[in-house]
Amino acid sequence: MRRKFVAGNWKMYKTPSEAETLAGDLKSAIGALNGAEMVVCPPYTALDRVNRVIQGSNIRLGAQDLHWEDQGAYTGKISHDMLKDVGVSHVIIGHSEQRTYFHETNETVNKKTVKALSSGLTPIVCVGETLDEREAGRMHDVVQSHVRGGYAGISKADALKTIIAYEPVWAIGTGKTATPEQAQEVHAFIRGLLKEMYDAEVAESLRILYGGSVKPDNAGELFSQPDIDGGLIGGAALKAPDFKAIVEAAS
Ligand code: 13P
Repeated sequence: MRRKFVAGNWKMYKTPSEAETLAGDLKSAIGALNGAEMVVCPPYTALDRVNRVIQGSNIRLGAQDLHWEDQGAYTGKISHDMLKDVGVSHVIIGHSEQRTYFHETNETVNKKTVKALSSGLTPIVCVGETLDEREAGRMHDVVQSHVRGGYAGISKADALKTIIAYEPVWAIGTGKTATPEQAQEVHAFIRGLLKEMYDAEVAESLRILYGGSVKPDNAGELFSQPDIDGGLIGGAALKAPDFKAIVEAAS
């Protein structure tokens, strides 16, 4: 039985002070729940303060990216040690916004995933097609290249420590959710791929999250699909009552 998992991706929202307030609200609302695993991913500048607030609760801390080098002259980047030092346990890798705006490729996703794993961070590896790709009938090819590329050279033991997030780009921030059937179809496809790449154990144990306009009113139906193990939540993660409702839908 895969435990459900709900992560909030705060993207480039919330100053450290605002993040502290939201984290406090979340701690009161959901901090003691222990159904689904819960992670919040604030911007880097808020990680330390959010970490202090969520101490003693069941909410864990995630980052939105990391660099694959340990340290060095990489202006603007952040390393695994820097993240772990402020209490980070999870890291989003390969988000479509990174792929679209910041030159993220399957190769960089792979390097980051390898680094996260070797440093003990849990990678949440994002995959998903654009609307053009879906309409051109290339959805399966794209998702397949994201999964195969992201996991290149990663052992079974390491793969078992990862989480995948399927986020169709056309559903992100658009209010256009994939239907539960559309999402389920791709999740099942990803599980089939994992079986080919590894084996049935990996295919059956990996959590595959859905992301893209998950809201309190559609979360329950999405999370009840057999291959959807929770969500990666954008906009609705910025409102404590909405995130609470989504976590409850997963519990
Ligand atoms: P929205 O929930 O705002 O569509 O964002 C989804 C997302 O990109 C999470 O990583």
